[in-house]
Amino acid sequence: MRKVFAAALLCAVLGGCSDGNSKPLILNARNTTTESTANEPDPDYGWTRPVTAEVFSAAATKLGSAESALDGHTLQAIVSDATVRVRSDDQACSTCHAWATTISRAAFCARVPAFLALPTAKGDGHDDPSAKPLVLKELLELWHAAGCPE
Ligand code: HEC
Repeated sequence: MRKVFAAALLCAVLGGCSDGNSKPLILNARNTTTESTANEPDPDYGWTRPVTAEVFSAAATKLGSAESALDGHTLQAIVSDATVRVRSDDQACSTCHAWATTISRAAFCARVPAFLALPTAKGDGHDDPSAKPLVLKELLELWHAAGCPE
């Protein structure tokens, strides 16, 4: 029983266990320690353009007890709008980060490498407080590699 629950939770956290076409989320280490360099194509979402399931397949899946999926939200809303809560613990970024409600695109862009370097959340209730969801790491890594577009 516990195992089944844990597996379901893991699916919820990682997203898309049952849709059959989800590809594994693979993070690469390029560009994670430098300022953005725009050497990857525009990901078709951005600071003011919403993430959708068409351009980011994991966007439709809610993590854990999150209020919101990524789908339909701009990166600015995901970071700054306390009513948009995509983490499995349903905590707004601004609950822990005072800068979150007013940060600019460029200033958030500069914080992405530090975000990517943090531990990855398992969503099992034992995560380090600094752990970040894998799906958000991939979302922000693609955005950062493309030069943090609007
Ligand atoms: C439960 C508390 C908590 C929540 C909620 C949270 N974080 Fe964090 N975050 C941390 C901790 C702890 C660290 C590591 C210590 C530090 O650097 O502040 C961290 C580090 C970071 C960093 C790198 C350090 C920095 O301040 O630039 C970024 C960027 C970041 N978080 C972004 C986010 C975003 C975006 C969200 C919302 C999706 C979020 N965090 C939600 C706790 C949290």
